[in-house]
Amino acid sequence: MKGFKKVAIGSDHAGFTYKARLLEHLRKAGYEVTDVGCDSEERCHYPLFAHRLCRLVQNGTCRYGILVCGTGIGMSMAANKHRGIRAAVCSDEYSTKMTREHNDANVLCLGARVVDYDTAERLTDIFLSTGYISGDHDTRVKMLGEIENCSFKDGE
Ligand code: RB5
Repeated sequence: MKGFKKVAIGSDHAGFTYKARLLEHLRKAGYEVTDVGCDSEERCHYPLFAHRLCRLVQNGTCRYGILVCGTGIGMSMAANKHRGIRAAVCSDEYSTKMTREHNDANVLCLGARVVDYDTAERLTDIFLSTGYISGDHDTRVKMLGEIENCSFKDGE
């Protein structure tokens, strides 16, 4: 699958150390990884890095994105404000697998103050290696897009 191995990664100061390690891990695993920052543990603002990463996923430069902040929540809130982005905060393997299979999530958000590094690495691997199961879920994923572009019709 063309572009499948192209991944973007970003963090704020709270996620910086995890990002550096995940970047190394993914490159070793053969992914072409674009690092959108931040570049140190100096305090910074997560929406900026979520935005930079989402632009790369939106324009097709990268197939998936991995965002790390303290909880993963701020990153997911910022990411989900971007058209076409389906970002999920995950801290367990089941949810990580399901958000790819059922929600066709394209951005994984991790909390460096929530999960230990090994878990973050495992969740990243699961996210990037799990495919979306089309069929039943297509209608729901399409509805997410309709809500986003204000064309959703409540048939009730
Ligand atoms: C930074 O202190 C923290 O608020 C941020 O990393 C993130 O957890 C926000 O959701």
